[in-house]
Amino acid sequence: MPTKAALAHIPGPPAKPLIGHTFDIVRDAYGTQQDYIKRYGSVYKVNMLGVWRVNLCGVDAMEMVLLDKERNFSSQGGWDALQLIYPGGLLLQDFDHHRANRRIMQAAFRASAIRDYRLRMCGAMKTLLDTWPDGEAFCFYKAVKDLTLKLGGAVFMGLPLDGDLARKVNRAIEDEIRASVTAIRSPIPFTPMWRGVRGRQFLIETFRTLIPERRAQGGDDFFSQMCIAKDEDGQGWDEDQILEQFNLLIMAAHDTTATALSVIIAALGEHPEWQDRLAEEVAGLGDGPLDEEALGKMAQTNLVFREALRLVPPVPFIPRMAIKDFHWKGFDIPAGTSLSLNPGVTMLSPEHFSNPTAFDPERFSKTRAEDLKHRFAWSPFGGGAHKCLGMHFSTMQVKLFVATLLRERRVELAGPPPKWHRMPIPKPKGGLPVILRRAA
Ligand code: HEM
Repeated sequence: MPTKAALAHIPGPPAKPLIGHTFDIVRDAYGTQQDYIKRYGSVYKVNMLGVWRVNLCGVDAMEMVLLDKERNFSSQGGWDALQLIYPGGLLLQDFDHHRANRRIMQAAFRASAIRDYRLRMCGAMKTLLDTWPDGEAFCFYKAVKDLTLKLGGAVFMGLPLDGDLARKVNRAIEDEIRASVTAIRSPIPFTPMWRGVRGRQFLIETFRTLIPERRAQGGDDFFSQMCIAKDEDGQGWDEDQILEQFNLLIMAAHDTTATALSVIIAALGEHPEWQDRLAEEVAGLGDGPLDEEALGKMAQTNLVFREALRLVPPVPFIPRMAIKDFHWKGFDIPAGTSLSLNPGVTMLSPEHFSNPTAFDPERFSKTRAEDLKHRFAWSPFGGGAHKCLGMHFSTMQVKLFVATLLRERRVELAGPPPKWHRMPIPKPKGGLPVILRRAA
């Protein structure tokens, strides 16, 4: 890792002793970053939790780093903080090794598999939404996290919605996720990292016992699909590889979806004209099954989903580590430097989006197509070798959620429109209290 002296030529704000810029960034990640860009330009350094990190801001930096034509940047080095909990997952692999494993993983994301997940999810979604209260305020963020975890038990693991095992598994997943964003990185007893490491052990042991049966019988859930997944050359995974890849997959899927659904619900509460539009779109689907054809007609919902991901992307920063010296925008940056890309702030830039802080899903319409000004202008799913594998799956899940909810109910905010924590995991301040009422 380069010392402060090796990065002395990179501009940046003065750092406080010990804490560096950590508190400023955690308190207001976007505001601080926008201020630093104004003062120091699109390449600047900060100190987070004792580590010097160079921020490379804007669409060109994202294109250069994520497409990585020279193989200069490591995702494994960037996501090093996840090493204790998710050591063998795709995000912690690079180049040929990563590519070979990603080709196997893609088998679990083919269109026919996603159709099976949808079938499994349809009934479960309705059962879970039916348990949400009518006419009284509740905390949406907590409820939707619980919903996505329970749905995950069914769709990702093939477990019953509310069984004892599903409950224990979900607790272990929560412990892992908390550990992956904690400041104390050693598993000191009773700290979040210690709980996360124990959660990981529990999940690995539990899922190992299920592999023989799932390999023999297959199944229409992600875990079963990963047990039998093979690339075009017939190459699959051994037990340890299945467990490592699956462990990362459930983390990658969980909070991202819960955040996206929270942003959508907040937007529908704040913009009743858009809620009416989506309700009308859902009514137009009739009472039939929410199959591929029906979801394919939800174009307005798709616009709202895209706008939600622009305004509050679930992954607002993408980390990488330079593994070779490189040159960017006039600066020599040495191998070993931790880098941060910033899709979150970039997607709020007036350079690409008109009136960028306004909720305006029409900006993605064919006539305006603001997102097409640059291939990384709209980049909530990243890009390049590690681009999100769950993009189509999450679009399906969001449409299914919106259709199931708006077939029966309407959303009201039970407080002012929320402000958002941007880091470490984006979520609504105050938990997003809402009231659901039966549609007239
Ligand atoms: C709105 C929801 C989601 C968003 C915004 C999102 C965003 C992202 C981003 C930005 C990355 C790239 C990170 C990087 O380059 O360092 C990523 C990777 C990944 N995502 Fe998602 N994600 C979402 C949902 C999902 C879901 C539902 C799944 C699984 C079903 C999933 C599975 C993955 C996997 C496996 C990777 C790693 C790919 C690789 O390293 O090759 N994601 N996601």
